[in-house]
Amino acid sequence: MKGKGARAWDENGREYIDLGSGIAVNIFGYGDEKWKQAVEVQLDLLPHSSNLYHTEPCARLAQLLCEKTGMKKVFFGNSGAEANECAVKVARKYAFDKYGDESHSTVITLKNSFHGRTLAMLSATGQDHFHQYFGPFTPGFVYAETNDIKDVRRLAEENGCCAVMAEMIQGEGGVMPLSYGFVKGIRQLCDEKDMLFIVDEVQTGNGRTGRLYSYMNFERTPDVVTTAKGLGGGLPIGACLIGEKAQNTLGPGDHGSTFGGNPAACAGAVSILERIDEKLLSSVREKSAFIIDSLNGAKGLKSISGMGLMLGLETERSASEIASACLKRGVLVLTAKTRVRLLPPLTISSDELKQAVTILREEIERV
Ligand SMILES: Cc1ncc(COP(=O)(O)O)c(C=O)c1O
Repeated sequence: MKGKGARAWDENGREYIDLGSGIAVNIFGYGDEKWKQAVEVQLDLLPHSSNLYHTEPCARLAQLLCEKTGMKKVFFGNSGAEANECAVKVARKYAFDKYGDESHSTVITLKNSFHGRTLAMLSATGQDHFHQYFGPFTPGFVYAETNDIKDVRRLAEENGCCAVMAEMIQGEGGVMPLSYGFVKGIRQLCDEKDMLFIVDEVQTGNGRTGRLYSYMNFERTPDVVTTAKGLGGGLPIGACLIGEKAQNTLGPGDHGSTFGGNPAACAGAVSILERIDEKLLSSVREKSAFIIDSLNGAKGLKSISGMGLMLGLETERSASEIASACLKRGVLVLTAKTRVRLLPPLTISSDELKQAVTILREEIERV
């Protein structure tokens, strides 16, 4: 198997246009030369040192993330789930430092959310389906109705809470964006009760929605931001960005990771982040509009959700049937719950997009 740009070839040489990017990872497509070069240079210099030592790529990546978001501190791990674990630790310690005990350790998450597959992040995930087989699960999470600020407030009043954690667009939950007013309400509530607002940007981050991070579409700043997937360009990385309020919460020894901040992964991530500029972001918005225009009015298409190049399609034909039919015709699409999910590389060409969307539309219309 091999890939180049938005195209991949299987072991028989069959070609595919990839509208999934390895689940939102390959934002510059396969075989991204600049990323490869940055990683190779670092592999020759120092591939690994552990985060007991400062390395230049790790410091540079943290600096870039902070400059671009206004956050103050960064902890690097190796996946989205680990970034979220770190965020929950920050929130619980923030409350512990304030109250002197664990009375405010509960984290409010949203129904239909997804936050990863470690035991604590399965608990954080607000879907019953993920709360089976592997119990006992980590306590300390309660689930609010999505887009219902009254329910979030009720939970904040009934429990000793330290944070609200949310995806701005619920990816695995079917590409369902939060409403603007709801996000504003969470921010207000967190300020009122001195809880941390944690935004999970694992899937939505790094340019995917047409802004660097999806919370930037909502004009509200979180206290903690987690990101992974696209940041690594294909190597494992996770980052927990901590804003001013909780910047001094974790001290040396409170958290750690052997591979976290790996210099080769960080060098690649620097090359990714440096290239997510306004030109790329506006092209993401244009490509999004192109997909929506091309699919609008298709027979069998009930609705389109999402932002930028993170789109969900509600269809009459089942999403898995459409995904299999597209695969047979050389187009890779994903599914999320009952929807077809599109997460193409941000650099996919107009021709590739046109070719893939034409096939997708034909398969949607084959009701
Ligand atoms: C919103 C969100 N959070 C967390 C995760 C978990 O990330 P990882 O698989 O890198 O642990 C995912 C993965 O799909 C995700 O979409």
